[in-house]
Amino acid sequence: MLLKSCLLPLLVSAVYADDICSKSLTASSQSDLDSISKCSTFKGDIILSNPIDSAAINGVQSIQGSLKINNVTTLSSIAAPKLANISDTLSLEILQSLSSASFPSLTSVSTLNLITLNKIDKINFAAGVSDIDTLIVSDTTLTSLAGIVPTSLDLLNINNNRYLSSIEFALKSVNDLDISSTANSLDLSFPYLTAAKNMTFRDAKSVNINNITSINSTISFVNTSVTSIILTKVKEIGGSLALVSNPKLTNISFPILESIGGGVQIANNSNLDSLSGFPVLSSVGGAIQFVGNFDNATLPKLDTVRGGVNVNSGSDHFNCSDWNQLQQNNVIRGDSYQCKAKSSSTSVAITTTATAHGSNTANAASATATSESKSKNGAVQVAQSGSLLGALAVFVLQFV
Ligand SMILES: *[C@@H]1O[C@H](CO)[C@@H](O)[C@H](O)[C@H]1NC(C)=O
Ligand SMILES: *[C@@H]1O[C@H](CO)[C@@H](O)[C@H](O)[C@H]1NC(C)=O
Ligand SMILES: *[C@@H]1O[C@H](CO)[C@@H](O)[C@H](O)[C@H]1NC(C)=O
Ligand SMILES: *[C@@H]1O[C@H](CO)[C@@H](O)[C@H](O)[C@H]1NC(C)=O
Ligand SMILES: *[C@@H]1O[C@H](CO)[C@@H](O)[C@H](O)[C@H]1NC(C)=O
Ligand SMILES: *[C@@H]1O[C@H](CO)[C@@H](O)[C@H](O)[C@H]1NC(C)=O
Ligand SMILES: *[C@@H]1O[C@H](CO)[C@@H](O)[C@H](O)[C@H]1NC(C)=O
Ligand SMILES: *[C@@H]1O[C@H](CO)[C@@H](O)[C@H](O)[C@H]1NC(C)=O
Ligand SMILES: *[C@@H]1O[C@H](CO)[C@@H](O)[C@H](O)[C@H]1NC(C)=O
Ligand SMILES: *[C@@H]1O[C@H](CO)[C@@H](O)[C@H](O)[C@H]1NC(C)=O
Repeated sequence: MLLKSCLLPLLVSAVYADDICSKSLTASSQSDLDSISKCSTFKGDIILSNPIDSAAINGVQSIQGSLKINNVTTLSSIAAPKLANISDTLSLEILQSLSSASFPSLTSVSTLNLITLNKIDKINFAAGVSDIDTLIVSDTTLTSLAGIVPTSLDLLNINNNRYLSSIEFALKSVNDLDISSTANSLDLSFPYLTAAKNMTFRDAKSVNINNITSINSTISFVNTSVTSIILTKVKEIGGSLALVSNPKLTNISFPILESIGGGVQIANNSNLDSLSGFPVLSSVGGAIQFVGNFDNATLPKLDTVRGGVNVNSGSDHFNCSDWNQLQQNNVIRGDSYQCKAKSSSTSVAITTTATAHGSNTANAASATATSESKSKNGAVQVAQSGSLLGALAVFVLQFV
């Protein structure tokens, strides 16, 4: 008797709880959220909508699904005190009134999107969100990413956060990293980062990736304020290297770099006097484009360049003799070679493919246009350089 009267209510509440805890919920009021407060594990998505203004997700410890808080104009605060993990996405997007967000137990989430938040400066992630694959922080007023502590990421995309002045992550590996700031105000420090696939730094104030050893695809620095790029542990770059328009850059050094799978573009770094930071580089899979006012740009171990070469310096101290030598030694396998110094210029169409380009001026013009249209996006332009050089190869010039 006793047993039966105890079991029945338990059974009923289990069935009831199971139902409400296993289907997605759109909550527009606190009472909607209170209806799931007994669900320690919630299976499904929780979606907040107007006119909720202060939301508390009490009781829920784990969401097997997503928590989506998008364009809820009325929402000023959100708290999920017990929530420890979210199997899919936590998104806080377009929240014009949100000034307080608290996820003090959260440690694990697959995707974290913090996008277009213009009233909040900090989010409470007291437990430390460490298990995370994708992190996007875009167009926010956040002043700090404290509490986001990833060690490995698939995607890291941070852009347009006016008040964010530094990011320091103990990140060890990342696939795609794309970071830009406004007004060159962001100090970036990833001192433990050893492996990355594709990295783009735009408009950063400083970048510490000193421990990087493996770059499987592209690395680019565009329009940053960094003063030096010294990567002492990188032996190979799988894709392209682009260093474009970094006005404070004075020193580049890649002392053990032997091969670059894609192209190399080093252009418009107005204070970079020497491109002699590649003492052992022997193989370049794409094109080489060096443009600036450098005094020297000698690659003493260069053995193969599969694309074309375009070297152009406005410095009085620069001359083309080393590059002309490389061209004569058939190191340059692409369809064109051009070297311009202040006093002399050499431009050579190398293979028969140049005739194909050269027979059609319209074709040449469009290749040039393509390259220029890409020039705001340094990483991409490297891939285009080959066709630009092909187009230039229409002319076989030699002036002194
Ligand atoms: C998610 O949180 C719940 C409750 O704290 C825990 O039992 C579970 O192990 C966690 N799962 C993951 C993948 O972290
Ligand atoms: C946000 O919601 C408002 C209505 O509340 C709607 O007019 C607007 O188009 C939505 N914006 C986006 C980007 O979804
Ligand atoms: C480069 O950075 C400066 C800030 O130092 C900014 O004003 C300018 O718009 C940026 N240029 C490009 C092409 O992004
Ligand atoms: C750099 O990476 C190595 C592993 O490659 C690691 O042992 C070392 O602690 C790292 N150094 C720093 C400063 O993080
Ligand atoms: C880079 O490539 C190596 C070898 O192909 C692979 O083991 C590693 O996982 C890759 N790293 C990244 C971050 O993709
Ligand atoms: C590298 O990242 C940039 C910017 O995120 C992107 O445009 C480009 O397609 C990526 N390249 C590769 C090879 O993944
Ligand atoms: C560039 O940095 C390297 C490595 O720190 C150093 O050996 C070299 O002297 C520096 N060159 C200049 C011109 O500062
Ligand atoms: C370098 O600067 C010149 C002049 O400002 C510009 O025309 C050219 O497109 C720039 N090149 C790159 C690769 O940004
Ligand atoms: C390259 O040029 C820089 C700046 O003028 C100079 O300090 C350096 O000694 C030169 N290096 C070589 C190898 O000629
Ligand atoms: C070209 O510059 C190198 C140093 O980079 C120098 O040794 C050589 O004499 C120069 N050649 C001419 C013709 O000026």
